[in-house]
Amino acid sequence: MRPLPKIDLRPHFLTLRDLPAGPINWQSFFGNDHPVELEVGCGRGLFLQTSALVHPDRNYLGVEYDMKEARRAALRLHKRALPNVRVLGANVFEVLPKFIPDQSVAAVHVYFPDPWWKRRHRKRRVFSATFLSQVTRVLPPGGWLHSWTDVEEYFGVITELVNSHPAFVWHPPPEEREAQHDLDYHTSFERKKRQLGLPIYRARWQRNEIANTDPRLSDWLAAANAAEPDPDPLSPVETAESPDHP
Ligand SMILES: C[S@@+](CC[C@H](N)C(=O)[O-])C[C@H]1O[C@@H](n2cnc3c(N)ncnc32)[C@H](O)[C@@H]1O
Repeated sequence: MRPLPKIDLRPHFLTLRDLPAGPINWQSFFGNDHPVELEVGCGRGLFLQTSALVHPDRNYLGVEYDMKEARRAALRLHKRALPNVRVLGANVFEVLPKFIPDQSVAAVHVYFPDPWWKRRHRKRRVFSATFLSQVTRVLPPGGWLHSWTDVEEYFGVITELVNSHPAFVWHPPPEEREAQHDLDYHTSFERKKRQLGLPIYRARWQRNEIANTDPRLSDWLAAANAAEPDPDPLSPVETAESPDHP
C-alpha cells in the first residue's frame, strides 16, 4: 500500500479538535441546509464518494476511528474536491452522544461493521443497545438505518436487536445487482466479499413516530442492558493513531 501524502486534508478530514464543543450545527458545518447522512466506520470512503457524487443535494459525514483509513477516505474526496462530504477521524461512541443533535440526520449507514470474531472481543462490536439508542435519538421519524454485512451470525444479532426496538420498522432490502465496473460496489468491503463469492446480508429500517422521550424507548434500553450489559464503548479502541493534522 502506498504511503499517504502528508497534506492537510481539511475540510475533508477533520478530527474532534476541529469541531466546536457541543452538537454540530449542520448549516454552518456544510454551509447549506441539505439533509445529512452519517456513515459509521466509513473505511476507505467508497460509499461516501459515490453517494456524494450521485446526491449533490445531500451531505455526508463518515466517522472512522482508524486514522489511516480515515485519511485515505478523505484523500479520495479531497482529490475530487467534493463539497458535500467530510470524514471525521473519531470514535462513533464519542461522536454520537456529544456531537450529533437530536433528529438531525436523515440516515445512518453501517456497512460491514467489524465482526470481532473472538468471544472476548465481541464487546467491541459497534451494534449494541447503546449504539441503537443513539441512532434512534439522531434519526427523525421517517429516517433510515441501513446495515449490510457478510457475517451471517452478526447479521442475526443486528436484525434481532433492531427488530426488537420499538422505534424501527423493517423494510425489504435493496436487490443485489451486477457491478458494471470496479468501483460499482456499495463499499470496498462489499467489493472484496462479493468478488470472493460470499453472500451479502442487507437490511434497512425506518424510524417511526415514537418520540425520543417515550418511556418505551428507555424501557427497551433498560431491558436490553439487563439481558446483556453494554461494555464501556470508549474503552476498547486500539486502532486510532495520532489524530493530528500534518
Ligand atoms: C470492516 S471495516 C468496513 C469499512 C467500510 N464500511 C466498508 O464496508 O468498506 C469496519 C470499519 O469500521 C471502523 N470502526 C469500527 N468501530 C468503530 C468506531 N467505534 N468508531 C469509528 N469507526 C469504527 C473500523 O476502523 C473499520 O474501518
